[in-house]
Order: sequence, then structure tokens, then C-alpha cells
Amino acid sequence: MATPFDILNRMREGRTLTAAEVRSVVDGAASGSWTDVQLAAFLMAAAMRGLDRDETRELTLAMLESGDQWALAKDFGHLVDKHSTGGVGDTVSLIALPLLASCGVPVAKLTGRSLGHSGGTADKLESIPGVRLELDRAGTLDLLDRFGMAIGIATAGIAPADKRLYGLRDRTSTVSSIPLVVGSILSKKLALGASGIVFDVKIGNGAFFPDARDTRSLASSLVEISAACGTPADYVLSDMNQPLGRWVGHAAEVREALDCLVGDGDPRLLEVVAAICRKAARLVGRELSRRDIDSAIGSGAARQKLVDWADAQGAEPGWADALDLAPVEAVVTASESGFLEAVDCRRIGNAFADACRPDREPHRIDHAVALRYDVRLGQQVERGQELARLYVRRDPEPLQREVAAALVIGEETEPPPAVME
Ligand code: URA
Ligand code: CA
Repeated sequence: MATPFDILNRMREGRTLTAAEVRSVVDGAASGSWTDVQLAAFLMAAAMRGLDRDETRELTLAMLESGDQWALAKDFGHLVDKHSTGGVGDTVSLIALPLLASCGVPVAKLTGRSLGHSGGTADKLESIPGVRLELDRAGTLDLLDRFGMAIGIATAGIAPADKRLYGLRDRTSTVSSIPLVVGSILSKKLALGASGIVFDVKIGNGAFFPDARDTRSLASSLVEISAACGTPADYVLSDMNQPLGRWVGHAAEVREALDCLVGDGDPRLLEVVAAICRKAARLVGRELSRRDIDSAIGSGAARQKLVDWADAQGAEPGWADALDLAPVEAVVTASESGFLEAVDCRRIGNAFADACRPDREPHRIDHAVALRYDVRLGQQVERGQELARLYVRRDPEPLQREVAAALVIGEETEPPPAVME
């Protein structure tokens, strides 16, 4: 069998790795037989020379097989999974999942924590008093049977090889390699074992990759490698040059989802939700019309799905009325008249992430901190007009300063569409 040295030598010479060689790297990461130094060399070589389709597929499958595989579709039949590459004010999952479930498209997802400037669905859902997100396979199947919808948090048993490699990527400047990103995301998605996956790939300055070409490669590679691993997938490219919805926050975004689910939703947010729902349904052989979506909203069925799901996950009675915002309010106003020409969405995301972690501890979040985003790119504004309203616990100044700097008033511009493709 090839040693770590042999494999690294092949990579240095620019040769393609065999399936067995890729597996031996991943097995080495999971078992500890490859040292950090050897894995770091592998990661840098992969980031610099790239991995081809077969190498990426093998990396993904080997990381998947390093941990638990739930294979939900085997027992449940058709169901979809939905993944976002991460955004700001990106409340899509909290709306799309109940909508799909109430339209008869079963959907399950294991969700993650906030990462950098982008908000994580798990953190948002934990603003619901009492909700527990730990789910095992049996619990997930039970929720699917009862509601057609399950959301949990990724458990320790899933893709342990990715956990080790991700930690090393973070320290070796290899996080942004597309094949490594694809393998990392997909190994965890495939562990759930849905029959189809829809990716909401964010594009723009607040996206995972600020560069549009990288973003398009990521989108097509996620779909191609997922299919190569046996799971059909599709994607929506959606705009992240400004916060997507009306709110950035944890409790605030859950409130926004509840409002959207009774028809009081921001049109851009709903456009992305509808595109995701249509693509997700198609993956399990269903066509959803705008009418189907509107009627799930109009009847109250979709909102009820989210409430039923939260109740089943331990939410305290009356939780929907207990999603409070932090008490100190401050506004950001337009310093001059003109048009909202640009938004530094990543800067808003980063400032918000700091504001809701008062102790700088990554997992102690003040769920009540929020930002209401009142304007849209291209909109005309008057000097002194309110652009954003902040809800914080203490001194609003740091967030206020960052948000003010992120909102650029200037010339009239064509606003980007919410759904690019
Ligand atoms: N999210 C992941 O899970 N992995 C990556 O590599 C990037 C984003
Ligand atoms: Ca957010």
C-alpha cells in the first residue's frame, strides 16, 4: 500500500491520485495514522493543483464513509435536503422547509452553526425557548412521519474525517479550495441520505466566495459531484450583495419566517424561497406552482408546520410570542440624499456577528440582538431617512458605525435580481 510519502510525492509530481490513494489519505485522517504535517501537505497540494472530478468524488465518499450514514431515503422513500452556502439575513430554510412539508414534499436537514459573517440556522432556531436540535436517525424518521419535516444539528458521528481536515484547512489557508469545500459540504449532506439535494448558492460580496466565477464553479461542482456520488442535486444562485430579508438576527429571523408564512414577507426573500421550493420539489418528481405555495401560505398550513415542528422539538408553549428583541434601539440614517448604490454585506454580517456575541465566545449568542434592514439597493433615499434600526443590549455605537459605513449612498444603480439563475 502507498505510504503518505508516496502519495505526497505523486501529488508533487502533478500526477492524479487513484481512488485507493485518496481513500488512504481520508482513512489516515480519520484513524490518526496520517500526521497533521502530512495532512497539511496534502491539503496545500490539493488547494494548489486542484482535484479532478474522480478525486473529488472519492474524497467525498471516503469522508462520508468515515462516519455514520443515516440513509433516510432507504426507509422513508422520497425526501429532499436543502443547503445554503451561507448568507446574511438568509432566513430561507425557516420558510422553505415548512412550505415544502405542507405542500407534501418531505424535507429533512442537518443544520450548522453561524460561521464567520454568515448566520447559521441552528443558532436561529435556538432562539425559540426550549427547542432542542439534537436528533438521531430514529428521531428524524419520527418527525418525518409526523410532519414531513425534520431539522436537527449535525452530530459528532457524521464525517469525522471532515472535522479533522476542516480544522487543518482553517490553519493552512486551504479553506477556500473548491474541491475541498465540495467534499466537506457533500460528505455531511450525503450522510443524511436524502433522495435529492437543493443548494442555495449565494453570490455577491456577502457570499462564501466574493468572486462570482468561484461561486459559479462551486455551484456546478456541488451538483456534479453529488450526482457522481449517486444523489441528484440542483442549485439556485441567489443574490448576497445585501441582506436578503428585512431582518438580520436570530429571534428576529424566526419572527420574520413566521410572518412570511402568513403572507407578510419581503418579496426578494419570498422569490428565493419559491425558487428553492420549486427545484426541491422537482428533485422528487413534483411540480410546485406559485399557486401551491400561495395556498400553503394562505391556509395557514405552512405556519402551522413550523409551529408543530418546534413544539415536537420541545418549544415552550406560547413561544411564537416570546421572540423578543433586545431593548436598546438605535438607528442608522442617510447622511445625504441619493440612491443606495452599494452595500458591504460581509461587513454587516461580521459586525452583527460581533454584536450578538458580547463575550466573544463563539457559542454564547444573544439571540435578541437584531438589525432591521429597511432599504434596498437602488432605492432613492433622503438625507436623514432611516436606513436600518438596531436592537442591542448595551452600547449600539460599534454596530451603528459599521452598518453606516457599509451602506453607500451615491448614484442610481440597477438593483440585482434576488434569483440570478
Ligand atoms: N462549509 C463546510 O461545511 N465546509 C466547507 O469547507 C465550507 C463551508
Ligand atoms: Ca443571518
